[in-house]
Amino acid sequence: MHNFCSDNVTTIAPEIMAALERANNGAAMPYGNDEITKRLEQRVAQIFERSVAVFPVATGTASNALALSALTPPYGAIYCHEHAHIQVDECGAPELYTGGAKLLPLSGASAKVTPGALGAALALGWRGNVHNAQPAVLSLTQATECGTIYRLDEMRALAEIAHAHGLKVHLDGTRFANALVSLNCAPADASWRAGVDVLSLGATKNGAMAAEVVIFFDPALAQTMAFRRKRAGHLFSKMRFISAQMEAYLTDDLWLRNARHANAMARRLADGLAKIHGCRLVHPREANLLFVMLPNRVIDGLEQAGFGFYREGGVRTIRLVTAYNTDPAAVDAFVTAAQQLAAGGPVTMTA
Ligand SMILES: Cc1ncc(COP(=O)(O)O)c(C=O)c1O
Repeated sequence: MHNFCSDNVTTIAPEIMAALERANNGAAMPYGNDEITKRLEQRVAQIFERSVAVFPVATGTASNALALSALTPPYGAIYCHEHAHIQVDECGAPELYTGGAKLLPLSGASAKVTPGALGAALALGWRGNVHNAQPAVLSLTQATECGTIYRLDEMRALAEIAHAHGLKVHLDGTRFANALVSLNCAPADASWRAGVDVLSLGATKNGAMAAEVVIFFDPALAQTMAFRRKRAGHLFSKMRFISAQMEAYLTDDLWLRNARHANAMARRLADGLAKIHGCRLVHPREANLLFVMLPNRVIDGLEQAGFGFYREGGVRTIRLVTAYNTDPAAVDAFVTAAQQLAAGGPVTMTA
């Protein structure tokens, strides 16, 4: 496959498909009252080394918007990066689910919120002023929309500022596994021990069909969540099939193995492209997303040769995303084609 548009253009991981097959057997109580969902709750608690409240849903947008809705009043302010998925790509779902909370976009290189930007926004003195939305949540994305990663000390520093101002910390972990294997630390270290209160943990982009889970590290924060999820239409009557995907994802390190492969393929791609004259990475390669500047002629040629990718903002930049099952041969074919085009020649496809 030569499609690098996203990590959701690919198939369901065989282990997850097999788990769905196994779950597709006999009767099970509906709405999450099944054995698989119960086992999933225990597994999440075990992996994250503490008691948690766990809410499976089926899309990342619902996971983010529902998590935020549990953390802010309708008159609250949610601080996030200006490129955050919740700000740019969720069609106002966070505003809808929270009943109108205000997203406050912050700047920072490569989609990372900086302590300076957060501190400056919080220093505006909105708390208690009836004219201002009330500071409620800091939402970070890990790995970020630019494929970069917050180091643990960076996360802790941001969470400290947020908590000192009475905010809760939400993490959009659509690509949490990709970040985790890059950071090479325990899931607890990359989440609640770094100050995260609620994690939207994704699986869809790393091998699932449609499975995400909202994890509350302080179950007290989840008191209204069951009602919110039902009201949002994400309390699946056949919940066992969402939970079965997530259980398989978190079994035998599948999530980590898949993410390691995706990240390794991004590294292979970046290393190959680095040898091409006129090619430049726009952001550091730290997970499975690359933003690459290439001459327009090369980009056009790659498209004509049948490679799939998104152009970014029309400025000689493309986004390349690798997945849990990206074929190394497809990566090599892309690099070779880019090299041939950069050298002024035609593309000779070998893979
Ligand atoms: C960083 C990030 N957060 C959230 C989502 C939302 O996922 P979904 O498309 O399942 O709603 C995506 C999907 O592209 C994403 O990249």
